[in-house]
Amino acid sequence: MLAANGATVVLSDVSADKGADAARKLGAPAIFLPCDVADPAQVFALVDEVVNRFGRLDIMVNNAGINSNRPEDRVTADKYPIETWRRIIDIDLNGTFFGCKAAAAQMVKQQSGAIVNIASVAGVVALRLQIGYVAAKAAIIKMSEAMACELGPQGIRVNVVSPVQRSRTARGSCFYDNKERAEHILSFIPQRRPGETNEIAGAVTFLVSDAAAYINGHNIIVDGGWTCGFNRDF
Ligand SMILES: NC(=O)c1ccc[n+]([C@@H]2O[C@H](COP(=O)([O-])OP(=O)(O)OC[C@H]3O[C@@H](n4cnc5c(N)ncnc54)[C@H](O)[C@@H]3O)[C@@H](O)[C@H]2O)c1
Repeated sequence: MLAANGATVVLSDVSADKGADAARKLGAPAIFLPCDVADPAQVFALVDEVVNRFGRLDIMVNNAGINSNRPEDRVTADKYPIETWRRIIDIDLNGTFFGCKAAAAQMVKQQSGAIVNIASVAGVVALRLQIGYVAAKAAIIKMSEAMACELGPQGIRVNVVSPVQRSRTARGSCFYDNKERAEHILSFIPQRRPGETNEIAGAVTFLVSDAAAYINGHNIIVDGGWTCGFNRDF
């Protein structure tokens, strides 16, 4: 959607094959550069490469994120594996911070820029049995607010999008393909369906556009109404 609105897009992902393929589908001038967001050196090298090639960085979307559905990770905090906690914090929270830090360094030089961080409904209302993900996503929201305060005077806006989204795994399956599981989770969502990718992209595109020029430190929750109230009768 950003490319369709005239942005020169640099895609990045730890999965080089999928990323290169996505950039090819978008066509020039979109390109793909690989990066593991958990490694700050790689994130800084990525932003340096973008600035070397294109001379500036106007928009940064920090979207890379993981959770775990392994049964051994869907447990209460007392049993939650420390390595799972570390891995999720490393990618979701630290990766987002490294992306913000690297982008902000360039945007301060420009005195302009828009950053959007992808959090989750799990960062807005606590969900059970995924403490690492909840902690990472809640921290992303607060960190973004702090950065909005810090970077606003430099002409930089920092906002968040918190989605519920239909997404497919690498093997093509989708959480909502399982009828019983889907019915259960959709009973929490007033619109009774997950968000589609273009509906999440719409919020991101709005936030980085001039139409949102005075929106800073905000979290747009794109969740069909999930978190706006209790969606079950008492
Ligand atoms: N799908 C949902 O319902 C949902 C809900 C709330 C929030 N989110 C958030 O939206 C974002 C995108 O999620 P998605 O559902 O499209 O998931 P996805 O798994 O389809 O996409 C995540 C991407 O991040 C990449 N990635 C993983 N580790 C990385 C690393 N170390 N460095 C660089 N890239 C890495 C993966 O290769 C993958 O392409 C995530 O931050 C996720 O937490 C998704």
